[in-house]
Amino acid sequence: MSPQSNGTSTSRRSFLKQSSVAVVGGTLAATLGSARAAHASGSDILKVGLIGCGGRGSGAAVNAMAAEDNVRLTALADLFPDKISAAKKNLSQNIGDKYQVTEDHCFVGFDAYQKLIDTDVDVVLLATSPHYRPLHLRAAVEAGKHIFCEKPVAVDPVGVRSVLETSEMAAKKGLNIVSGLCWRYDSAVRETIGRIKDGAIGDIVAMQENYLTSTLWLRDRNPEWSEMEYQNRNWLYYTWLSGDHIVEQFIHSLDKSMWLMDDQPPQSCVGLGGRQVRTDPTFGNIFDHHAICYEWENGVKVFAYTRQMKGCHNDVDDYILGTKGRAEVLKSKVNGETVFRGKKPSMYDQEHKELFAAIRAGTPINNGRYMSLSTMMAIIGREACYTGQKLNWDEAINADVRLGPTEYAFGDVDVPKVPTPGVTKFPPA
Ligand SMILES: NC(=O)c1ccc[n+]([C@@H]2O[C@H](COP(=O)([O-])OP(=O)(O)OC[C@H]3O[C@@H](n4cnc5c(N)ncnc54)[C@H](O)[C@@H]3O)[C@@H](O)[C@H]2O)c1
Repeated sequence: MSPQSNGTSTSRRSFLKQSSVAVVGGTLAATLGSARAAHASGSDILKVGLIGCGGRGSGAAVNAMAAEDNVRLTALADLFPDKISAAKKNLSQNIGDKYQVTEDHCFVGFDAYQKLIDTDVDVVLLATSPHYRPLHLRAAVEAGKHIFCEKPVAVDPVGVRSVLETSEMAAKKGLNIVSGLCWRYDSAVRETIGRIKDGAIGDIVAMQENYLTSTLWLRDRNPEWSEMEYQNRNWLYYTWLSGDHIVEQFIHSLDKSMWLMDDQPPQSCVGLGGRQVRTDPTFGNIFDHHAICYEWENGVKVFAYTRQMKGCHNDVDDYILGTKGRAEVLKSKVNGETVFRGKKPSMYDQEHKELFAAIRAGTPINNGRYMSLSTMMAIIGREACYTGQKLNWDEAINADVRLGPTEYAFGDVDVPKVPTPGVTKFPPA
């Protein structure tokens, strides 16, 4: 199924209307008959398959196996055989007897995801580069699997709309979708955001989101690789694969501001950004800094800054300003008081604990709506920076824009151009 093939046209107003329907929730009590078939009893072994066996995927598999006793890892899928080999070694050492992956349950290539989904796994962990997420999520839901879905969930509006539609399909089938927007599963962040939502700082007036950090890995070009292989191995640096770092990484911060805005999207945004340091073509076509001002209908503004550069001031936190005070979310500070102290469970383990508990209780979690809207918030911010224009949410989310090739094979692929504000258009001309 192609990520292009969806017809959902979801405007901002229809999101507002949807806010009381089932798919919006965090925890969704299944009222549907099909949900009964989709849960397992406490003693049943749940079989888990991993799609995308890199750093985060392997980490998610370890987290899933740590989350409870009656789970086993039974299948692996990746684009590259060396990634499967590395994951086999790493995971068989790290999860002991819960590693039950046989040779005939290891799949390689662009269709590996479907082969894994066609096995008898109950749960899939989706952890490839973001471009493929709408396709993989749809296939998993069509096959009736429960899902842990890493962020971001798309790189373009067509992908976001596909994921919204797939999430509704999952809700109707009583399937779980737990999002890898991990701060929503962190005890301290839950407590701090809960206090703010309960009025501890009055009404929110503005927020400042900072993700000012250093650079990430770059994989040297191997002369035997095709252009498609180079781009996929260096997916961070290609907007069609990662969404740019504003989507791939900064989404964690934008998601917290969306959470504080009750997951109602902003009306518009204006941004500026560019590529000051990572200018070499080896770094694909992404920017290295973005600054955006998002505005909601009620006048609330989010000032959002992200930068990936060495040797600069670093800061990752959320500064919330209200009519009666202020808060810093990642420091758990509300009006100067630390509102969460002490030991907390790993948010990464917690995601899987809640997923398995929901499967066994038959009370599915569906994070589909918020993971889609937070992804879209990052995409519209990126496009505001790329174009230099003020962008409107309704137009952006409904735009017929899909990035990347529609058929996947190793060989030639376009080398995308670096966007130029004032020249680049959204939607493209
Ligand atoms: N929640 C978090 O804190 C967190 C942290 C890191 C990464 N992530 C997210 O996890 C995802 C993976 O990131 P990573 O750091 O593990 O990257 P990675 O490059 O280490 O791993 C990605 C893996 O997916 C494989 N892959 C790519 N396309 C595929 C396809 N079509 N089919 C099958 N396999 C495919 C790659 O070969 C690679 O092994 C990204 O979406 C990233 O944003 C989330």
